[in-house]
Amino acid sequence: MSGQPIRFCSESMNAPAKVTGYQHAHTALCDRRLVQSMYGECDVLMERVLLTLHGEPHACRRAIEWKLFRRDFARYYEREVYPVTLAQTLAAYLDQGRLDLPEFGFRVNINLSADIAGIDRPEGSESETDALVAFTRKFSEGATLFHSTREKEVVRQEVADALAQFNTRFLTPSKRRREAILEKVARGMQSEDQAPRDILTVLLANRDDQDLNDDMILREVAFFMQAGAHSSANALTHAFHELEQWSEAHPEDRIRLKTDDRFLQRCVHESLRLHPASPVAWREASESFSLPDGTPVAAGDSVLIDLMSANLETSLFGQDAASFNPNREVANRIPTFGLTFGIGIHTCFGRDIAGGLGNAKDSDEAPHLGTLTNLLKSLLQHDARPDPARPPVADTATERPNWGSYPLLVGAPQSVQSTGLTR
Ligand code: HEM
Repeated sequence: MSGQPIRFCSESMNAPAKVTGYQHAHTALCDRRLVQSMYGECDVLMERVLLTLHGEPHACRRAIEWKLFRRDFARYYEREVYPVTLAQTLAAYLDQGRLDLPEFGFRVNINLSADIAGIDRPEGSESETDALVAFTRKFSEGATLFHSTREKEVVRQEVADALAQFNTRFLTPSKRRREAILEKVARGMQSEDQAPRDILTVLLANRDDQDLNDDMILREVAFFMQAGAHSSANALTHAFHELEQWSEAHPEDRIRLKTDDRFLQRCVHESLRLHPASPVAWREASESFSLPDGTPVAAGDSVLIDLMSANLETSLFGQDAASFNPNREVANRIPTFGLTFGIGIHTCFGRDIAGGLGNAKDSDEAPHLGTLTNLLKSLLQHDARPDPARPPVADTATERPNWGSYPLLVGAPQSVQSTGLTR
């Protein structure tokens, strides 16, 4: 696809055993003998957070946190909370008539992240959101340090500083409020369902059972802050770019993109398939055994799971699997977004929230679209279009093929001619 960010190759690792193709990648992601190994570069943030735990400790942490993500939560969030957040965030940009898409996506989702993580925003001010965005961006840089092109020690120090400031300004007051509520619950002065429904409350309520100290709680909450905003902001930008290109080639679909929610969701899933948050997942073998294709590995060997090859498998997604085609037929029981949200042990908590439920086909029910489709829908309704004066640029701070900046004009086109969706 033209205009895509350049994909770099990581050259820093010894040659790992490689798992390719959908079924093999699926099996490997579900195999308990393969231990998460992509996040050890930034222990200051990622040590023993959900994504890096393994075995029993992972299962225990996941069990208490997963309760927050029941399907009713995704629906509730989409119907009740997200429209307000989205409208409020977009309003400021509509006044300016322009926005930068990765930055906008991050900013909208920071509220989702904070609600899930359990971070209060008592001021509700722009400057408070600015601070939260800046901290969370730094946590994202730490979480993806494996693929960073920056000096890693410098990034680690920046992440440590951001964590300390975030702790003082946001986590400590949020924690005090929740501890006071949990105290009242324990004394029978308040019922349990009046306590906030978020990760911080869950961690505080289980801190003894799960052996959680203050540093661990800080890392887990900061990890959730970035998990809720980072991948979604990148996915939003990729999806917009794909829609632009599709509309250029299929002008007959321009109106449909604005009026047919299921089609728009199908486009989002197709873009997610082509642009997984990370094209690869890394694991380490905990014992000697054979990978799904028969390759033997010994304890301590690195294993690279090629998610991109899984998502491009022609036997499941068709001969044109490498190109964007929202009308494609996908093999039965295969998610239209492939393995982009992972599968098995570390399956993404945010899959239904970000991607929506189901494949949006063969049903008369109002679709649960997910935050990405809702965001795009809203942008299209406001005639979002690339800014002809400022072309998009790739993010050079990471080896991941993401956009660093993607300037858009929003609101009624004036003297500037649209190049894409609004024509
Ligand atoms: C387009 C958006 C998103 C994408 C593509 C995405 C992708 C992924 C992937 C691939 C994994 C598994 C990593 C692995 O196996 O190594 C994962 C895990 C995770 N994701 Fe997401 N994610 C997205 C949005 C979200 C959101 C909105 C949340 C909300 C909090 C979230 C929370 C998590 C958590 C907590 C895990 C760790 C699960 C575990 O280790 O058990 N993600 N995500």
